[in-house]
This record gives sequence, C-alpha cells and structure tokens, in this order.
Amino acid sequence: MNCHDRRSKTRRGPESKELTKRPMRPGDFSQIKSLMEDIFPMKYPDSYFWDIAAAAYWSLGIFTANDELIAIVVAGKEFHNDRTIHDKPPEFRYLPEKTVYMYSIGTKPPYRRLKLSTILARDCLRMCRERGASAVYLHVMAENLAAIRLYEKLGFKSFAFLAQYYSPYGGDALGKILRFDDKIHSNSECTAK
Ligand SMILES: CC(C)(COP(=O)(O)OP(=O)(O)OC[C@H]1O[C@@H](n2cnc3c(N)ncnc32)[C@H](O)[C@@H]1OP(=O)(O)O)[C@@H](O)C(=O)NCCC(=O)NCCS
Repeated sequence: MNCHDRRSKTRRGPESKELTKRPMRPGDFSQIKSLMEDIFPMKYPDSYFWDIAAAAYWSLGIFTANDELIAIVVAGKEFHNDRTIHDKPPEFRYLPEKTVYMYSIGTKPPYRRLKLSTILARDCLRMCRERGASAVYLHVMAENLAAIRLYEKLGFKSFAFLAQYYSPYGGDALGKILRFDDKIHSNSECTAK
C-alpha cells in the first residue's frame, strides 16, 4: 500500500471493519473541519480546511466504510529552504535544503492506538522521499507526549525548542526533524501495511 493508491484498503481498525485510505477532496471540507476542530486545541481559519480539501496541500485520510473521516495527515507540497522562508519561525533558516513541512496529523479518539497515524505518517514520509525531499520537519507541543512518542518511533529527532510557540492555545513547542540520510530512519523504513 502506498500513498499513490487512490483508494487503497486496510483492515486495520476497530472490529476489523474495512477502512479506506485516500487523499482529501472538495466534498470532504466539513469532515476535515470537524475532525481538526475536535482534536487540535488551536483554532484554524476555514481557509486552511478549504485548502486541504482543494489539494493545496498533500493530504491523506483514513475513512470508515460509512465514509467517516477518522484520521488525517497534511504536508506541504513545496520544499522549505532558507532562501524562501520569511514569515516562518526563525529555525526554518537552519533546515536542510528540500525539507517538507508536515502541518497536521491526528486520529479521532475512538480510533487511537490502532496505528492509523503511524500508517499515515509513513505514507507521508514515503511520498516526501519519492519527491526527493531530504528531510521532514514539524512542530509539536512540548507536553504532547503521545505525539512525541509517535514521532520518535518514526525516527524524528528534536531540532528546536520554541518557547510559547502555541500561545494562546498551548505552551512551548518542539521542532522535530527526520532526515532521510539518518540511520535511524532506514531502520524504521516506510512499510505501511
Ligand atoms: C498523537 C496521535 C496523533 C496518535 O495517533 P494514533 O493513531 O493513536 O497513533 P498510533 O496508534 O499510530 O500510535 C503510534 C505510537 O505512538 C505512541 N502513542 C500514541 N498515543 C499514545 C498515548 N496516548 N500515550 C503514549 N504513547 C502514545 C505509541 O508509542 C504508539 O505505539 P504503540 O501503540 O505501539 O505503543 C493522536 O493521539 C491524536 O490525534 N492526538 C491529537 C492530535 C495531535 O496531538 N496530533 C499531533 C499534533 S503535532
């Protein structure tokens, strides 16, 4: 199974019900908004959800047989580098060339600990690697131990500490990076099943 499958199937999930993995599309706007407003503490403008639905970002979701969106990952389509970053946090200037930013990842509470985020993240990493990225970068709340554990299992390492980055919705952030030439990543190679 890989991120280019338009409608690839996985049997991972509660009661082994069939789940479907596919990119977001315009009709998914409401579900994207509802899921993200449920699982993230910060408030996003609707334009972010519209952009995801309109494929301005690379995205992948997992849907139940009833077409309920239960997990999502969103990443940039462009590479960030020190010559193009002006409105981003200061550490962006130190990111390697051809770094992709992972914007969002999350799973609805009833479907957590089923490896859904792991599957989506690995597909995202595979997509980035196939596009020639050298690294993937993200921010995570410093107290979000579940997400930090997920990222560390995938091979991400801490790169930056940003005090009060999430204010007023939360506190400090860690910037985490996965470089594709790191040995740890080749040990956790992208093999989403
Ligand atoms: C963090 C989050 C994305 C994990 O999603 P998930 O689909 O449950 O993750 P997975 O099942 O793939 O978990 C993979 C690993 O992450 C770690 N992990 C996930 N949830 C955890 C928790 N509550 N406590 C400790 N470790 C956790 C575990 O190591 C887990 O492996 P294991 O189940 O074999 O122990 C999910 O809890 C979530 O959506 N949280 C709210 C949104 C969010 O914080 N997103 C990240 C923003 S940076």
